[in-house]
Order: sequence, then structure tokens, then C-alpha cells
Amino acid sequence: MCGIVGYVGNKSVVDILIDGLEQLEYRGYDSSGIAVMCDTEIKVYKAIGKLKNLREELCGHEKEFSSTTMGIGHIRWATHGAPTLLNAHPHTCNCGNLVVVHNGIIENYKELREDLAKSGCVFKSQTDTEAVAHLVARKYAQCKDLKEAVRLASYEIEGAYALCVMHNECKNTLVITKRNAPLLIGIGDNEFYAASDVPAIIKHTNKAVYLEDNQIAELTPESMEIVDIENNKINPKIEILPWEPVALSKMGYKHFMLKEIHEQPDVIRNILVGRLHAPDEHVVLNEVKLNHETLTHLERIQIIACGTSLHAAMIGKYLIESFCGISVDVEASSEYIYRKTVTNERTLVIGVSQSGETADTLTAIKQAKAKGAHILIVTNRPDSAMAREADSLIPVNAGIEVSVAATKSYIAQLMAFYLLALYMSEIKDSIAPSTLTSLKTELMLLPQKIEQILSQKDNIQNVARNYANTKDFIFIARGINYPTALEGALKLKEISYINATGYPAGELKHGPIAMLDETMPVLSILMNGSVYEKLLSNSEEAKARNARMIALTNSRDEKLNYLFEHIIKVPDVQELFSPIIAIVPLQLLAYYIAEFLGKDVDQPRNLAKSVTVE
Ligand code: G6P
Repeated sequence: MCGIVGYVGNKSVVDILIDGLEQLEYRGYDSSGIAVMCDTEIKVYKAIGKLKNLREELCGHEKEFSSTTMGIGHIRWATHGAPTLLNAHPHTCNCGNLVVVHNGIIENYKELREDLAKSGCVFKSQTDTEAVAHLVARKYAQCKDLKEAVRLASYEIEGAYALCVMHNECKNTLVITKRNAPLLIGIGDNEFYAASDVPAIIKHTNKAVYLEDNQIAELTPESMEIVDIENNKINPKIEILPWEPVALSKMGYKHFMLKEIHEQPDVIRNILVGRLHAPDEHVVLNEVKLNHETLTHLERIQIIACGTSLHAAMIGKYLIESFCGISVDVEASSEYIYRKTVTNERTLVIGVSQSGETADTLTAIKQAKAKGAHILIVTNRPDSAMAREADSLIPVNAGIEVSVAATKSYIAQLMAFYLLALYMSEIKDSIAPSTLTSLKTELMLLPQKIEQILSQKDNIQNVARNYANTKDFIFIARGINYPTALEGALKLKEISYINATGYPAGELKHGPIAMLDETMPVLSILMNGSVYEKLLSNSEEAKARNARMIALTNSRDEKLNYLFEHIIKVPDVQELFSPIIAIVPLQLLAYYIAEFLGKDVDQPRNLAKSVTVE
């Protein structure tokens, strides 16, 4: 799970590569490197750590690459081999004539390495990628055609990859290919870009071709030629990219995460546009192809996702079961793909993914599709690989999310589930019209309520200050907010590295209570509704063990002041919508704690935003 960029054209290439990599830093950031075609030969520059280290590494070398107009770049999130200089990309063949950058995992790399070593290749790194460099170089030595060499090598490589390749003997030619990993070509005037994702190129062009699996593209300043693995010429479909460059600025916020938290009211408004005009109107989901007949024949719904999206999926289950009375299972994609699931033509499989590229979820979706299930994708990237597998689609329109810790995309996914559950209940006629109207009225009021929370963020910052030095943190909740507890804990873990766990409060006494003492903060998500009293009594149990109690609540009950050391108050809301209101202070709490600790909020260690390896 790395990011790759490439450029061939008439502009000086180094800034293009480095700027592009900067936009891909969300995919990994433990080392980086570029290779550029200089006058006499290809030169490679690498650095360990953040991209700024590569920038520093390049200082002083400007003369070497001042006139170069072709190059490739890579930002790495280590999978095979530690993040060292030797393992950083680009990788070269033995003679250094061929260079390659790679995103993905070459599954048969051990076999390839053994085979190539026997024929004299000497490996310098522990990576799977280096095998590709040697393999393509060997093919090139036979055919003297870089595109053909990559095509022939594709037959021998197993696994997932996006590759950019250059060769010293092909001064103006960049060759790229992909299988089960994202790669697109940006088209400018006498120039082409290659990148793992849109942000790396959008500053330069909005015309692009999404390369399909097993296609190989040969790019020169004047031409783009694409073939499939059998060497049939492909007529590329040129698309206009929807993203605006302005979305990538921090707009005055200290971190992207804080900016993205603040964007949430507008994210909700955006997703409602065109889908819910007024409380007494039907929900419109144009790209969802479920009708009365499909819903009547449906035996089950399975929702699959990873990370934060999995928590949104858990709330989705709660909503669909409550609104529509259809049984829903939720499962981590990485579990779903390795067991025999009961999935058939009567199953609706919902894949939830911010990026639409997460390898486990993509594989799970493909498996479910092969079993005949109807595939509905909830994603922030309607141009993604998952979206292309979909029978039905809900684009969540959250805009580009740069911070690795997901915030606004989570809120947008929740909104998608509210709309979907309402939409399905309208088809099934499973909710009384007056209840529907009241639910929709509440839904449309959510942006203002979040704005109210954001306007009081100083209170949350004050609470955060008290817990910045804690080693552990427990979040408890019940019912529809149990996933909120999981997501609150995940946010804190991701960006502060504090050991945080979410529990359904009823489980506290079945083990976790043993950990409680005066050093342990317990945050209770105490929202008015069916489980309020139960959760209050669970909170009392925790208080009796001297835990440091914090309430996140919309209750105005005076007795909470005696039970809780800190109270984070949020606006009142119907219980069903409380996950949207409750998550915002938890995002802010995690943010401020991490900020107090001086952590790298937008790019936490060991994480990547888009996990395109299984
Ligand atoms: C990574 C990210 C998480 C994200 C998860 C699933 O782990 O760091 O923030 O929730 O992937 O990503 P997806 O794009 O499928 O929602």
C-alpha cells in the first residue's frame, strides 16, 4: 500500500513528482524515492521517513536533474522488508538500466527471486518489487521493447500491482501497468502523468484514463498506446475528473483532520442534496436499483467493510433492521473472504469503503458478486474499483479526505445508511408515514446540531487536556451507540497511540471491570433513549471502582454532576440519530489529546489511508 507517480512530457519533472507524492502521502510515508531520466543516465534518489527527507536529499543535486522531463516516484508503506534505504523504491535491475516503482504485493515473489537468482540476478533489497525489476530487465534484454517486456513479465507475476517502469535505452518512454491496484493516466498537452490516485495529478489536468487490470500503457510526450495482456490495442476511455484542487488545502486549520471535522455539517447537507428535499417527500437514490420485488425476495443483507467503515456498517445494521425488519449481518471484509458465507442471488451485499480501493473489501465484493448477490457500494470514490463492481451505488460526496484518521467520510457513510434505510422502508412500507416524516425532519436538522458542537469545541479541548497523559482509555455505550464507542476508541488509538477500547457497557462486568481503578478514564456515551437508564447504572458500577468518569450526553439530569468528573454536553436528538451527534465530540477529543501529545495527527505512525494490500 504505497503511492506511485510518473511523468513524461516537456516540463521539469522533479517538482511534479514530489508534489504528486505529497498528495499521496496518505497511502504511506515510511520512505520515498524518485528516478529521473538525466542526460546520460537514470538517476535514483531515496530517503527514509517522511517526504520532507527526500526533499532535503534532493537539495544540492538540482544541476543533475534541471533539464529532466521524465521520471517516476514512490512513497512507501513497508510490507516486504523494513523501511530502509535499500528497501525504498525505485528498484533497479543489476546493471541499473531499468527502474521500477510498485504499489501492491507480488505474491509469487519468492519463486521469482529464486528463479532470477539462479540466472545471476543479485538482490539488494528484501522487497517483492525488486523481483519485478530483474524480471522485466530480463524480458527487455530479449525483446528490446519496454512495453513488450512489461507485457511478457505480466504473465509471470502473481498478485496485486501498479507499476511504472523506465529504461536507460528508452529516453522518452514510460511504461505502466496494473492488476488489482489503482492506477490512472492524466492527460496534458504533450505530456502524460501516471498516479495511484487523482490528487497527485488534479493540479495539472482533469482529463484521465483509468487503466484497467492487465492493460499496459506506453507513454511518450506525443503518444499514449495501450494494449491488453494479449497485445490487443485498446481504445482508452477518457474521463473528466470531478475533484477540485482547492479541496486539498488546510484552509487555515492546523491539521487536515481538524478541517475535515469542521466540514461535517456541509458533508451532511451535500449528501442530502437531490436525495431528500423535504420531510414529506420520498428519499431519492438514483443509483440504487432495489425495487419492491428484489426487496421482497431478499433473504438477508450482509455488510462488509474495514476500519472506520466497519463501524458505520454496524450502525447501518441497526438502522436497516429497525426500519425495514430485514436481517443484517456485518463482518470485517478480512474475515468474510476466508470462510464459506451463505451468499446467493437472494442476498444484498453492501460494501462500505471511503476509498473504494481497500483490498479486503474489494476481494469480498468480487466473491459475493460471483455468487450472484446484488452488490451495493457506499463509497466516497464513485470512480473507484469497488464502484465499478456495483449494481447499486451510493456516492457519499464527502470530498477528498486527507487525514489518515477518517472523520467526515464516517459521518457521510452514516448518512448514506440513514437514507438507504429510509428508502428501503418506503419501498417496503414498513414505517408509518407520520414517523417517516418525523425521522426525515430530524435528519435535516443534524447539520445545525453539529455546528453547535463545533462552536463549543473549547470545552472539549479542556477535557482533553486532563487525559492527555493517560495510558489507557475505555469507551462504553449500548445499543445504536456501541459502534460509536468503538469508533471513538479507534480514533484515539490511531492518532494518540493510547490504548483505547470500546465496550458494550453490559459487558463491562464480564471482564473489563477488573481493569478499573483511579487511573482509568471511562467515557460513557449516555444519550437519551431506550438504554439511558441501563447505561447510567453501568456507569455507576464503573464509578464504584474509582474510575475517572466522563459523560458524553444530551441529558440535562442534575445527578450526572455527582457521577462524572467531566461532562461533554451535546444537543438533544432522537436516539436513532444520536451516533451522528455523539461521534463529533469523540473525534475532537482524540484530536486534542493527540495534539497535546505533539503527535503527527494527519499521518499517524504505521497507518495508511488506503490499504490496497490484503
Ligand atoms: C485504513 C484507514 C482507515 C479506514 C480503513 C478502511 O485502515 O486508515 O481510516 O477506515 O482503512 O478504508 P476504506 O477506504 O475501505 O473505508
